[in-house]
Amino acid sequence: MAKPLVWYLKAPRRTLRALLPALAPPDDAYAERVLPPNEFRLYLNMDPRDRQHACEVARTLRERHPGASDELVRAALLHDVGKAGRPYRLLERILVHLVPAPDTAAEPRRSGLAGALQMKRHHPAYGAAMIRAAGGSERVARLVAHHPDEAEEAALLDRIDDET
Ligand SMILES: [Fe+2]
Ligand SMILES: [Fe+2]
Repeated sequence: MAKPLVWYLKAPRRTLRALLPALAPPDDAYAERVLPPNEFRLYLNMDPRDRQHACEVARTLRERHPGASDELVRAALLHDVGKAGRPYRLLERILVHLVPAPDTAAEPRRSGLAGALQMKRHHPAYGAAMIRAAGGSERVARLVAHHPDEAEEAALLDRIDDET
């Protein structure tokens, strides 16, 4: 799927932030106010760069859609939590942006670049499973997984994710 123009305009900023995470500390205090304790513990498993991105997606969502449900904002904070299963490797993240995700199965988990591409494709499902395993909200899990029942709200999140 083609990325919107704004994605390309913001790509250098994203790369810079990935290189220099200290420039953009995540607003963990905000996430702690929004998420119940079990979901906040999951959130903390993410790399700070993914947490910063998550906070930005959540903040943009609230600005643009002040009526967004609490669950959608929580899903924004956790939408990439499925990536927490692998250490954050900058080179891998850059490569994965450039290569389309192949049609690999979600399990068993692969290692190396194959694992990174598998994660690109399946991290929404991994994240939803982690939310359920942690006793988090079923609706938040469905939003993260793009479940068809939540397609409309999940699409809002997706659009903002692509732009931030
Ligand atoms: Fe994602
Ligand atoms: Fe994202």
